[in-house]
Amino acid sequence: MPAPSNHSGMHCSTGHTISILPGRTRTGEHEPFDRIDIGPGDTISIVGPTGSGKSAFISDIEVFARGDTATGRTILVDGRLPDEAFVRDPAQKPVALITQNTRCLTDLTVRDFLAMHVRSRKIEKQGIIGETIALANEFTGEKITEEARMTALSGGQTRSLMVADAIMVSCAPLILLDEVENAGIFKDRVIDVLRLHHKALIFVTHDPLVALMSDRRIVMKNGGVAKVLEPNGSEVAALRSAKEMNVLLSRMRERIREGDLITGVA
Ligand SMILES: Nc1ncnc2c1ncn2[C@@H]1O[C@H](COP(=O)(O)OP(=O)(O)OP(=O)(O)O)[C@@H](O)[C@H]1O
Ligand SMILES: [Mg+2]
Repeated sequence: MPAPSNHSGMHCSTGHTISILPGRTRTGEHEPFDRIDIGPGDTISIVGPTGSGKSAFISDIEVFARGDTATGRTILVDGRLPDEAFVRDPAQKPVALITQNTRCLTDLTVRDFLAMHVRSRKIEKQGIIGETIALANEFTGEKITEEARMTALSGGQTRSLMVADAIMVSCAPLILLDEVENAGIFKDRVIDVLRLHHKALIFVTHDPLVALMSDRRIVMKNGGVAKVLEPNGSEVAALRSAKEMNVLLSRMRERIREGDLITGVA
């Protein structure tokens, strides 16, 4: 796999620290952590069974909960409750949420859609549209062109473009990805690129490779955080074998797509 190219969101200011203060599980128990701090470049995966509260956790961050959601959690930005304007103004909002259902209901081409967004944010950087599309194309196997209509993009292309747009145009310092299953986007690539850009990433994942690649793993149970794991290198052997298996599986996936019969090992 090639090294991530050095696209830069140079016009973006540096990131914020987002903190999560504990709430309650579905049955009212206090969550067993003091505070979870997320800074620039951190990657955190959220794991746990169906219905355990993964999406609710991500949603608390997206809405900057102040003890006013079902979970009772509170979100701080740089150690304080964020100002109302900061949270409501999309141009200032420091998080971008991308879900399985993220679609763009606009009949514009990709180029015009990005141009509109760049203009609305008064960004003057030359070439930003091409760079954003090039970045999106690092996350998806099906290439996006400038002339494609937004409504004609596949789910994976749309999410890839939204992640690239959040990095390059919105300058969101924290990206939230909520994916029900494999959603046609190279998540290991997203992790590498976001680290390179010093962006923080929190994602719901069922994929062992991406879970092992993240710095911390939040384990959800019964609506609450049950554990915060910090492997600190103790999982390197597992990560190495997950990467090897991933290469093998990717090769098989590619050949299956091409219509081959797989009669040997890869
Ligand atoms: N701490 C809580 N207190 C009360 N209700 C909660 C709590 N956490 C989550 N819920 C509610 O429980 C339901 C299931 O939670 P959620 O959708 O977050 O699960 P999930 O882990 O994302 O599941 P899936 O894997 O199916 O996407 C939601 O309606 C959510 O609002
Ligand atoms: Mg969910």
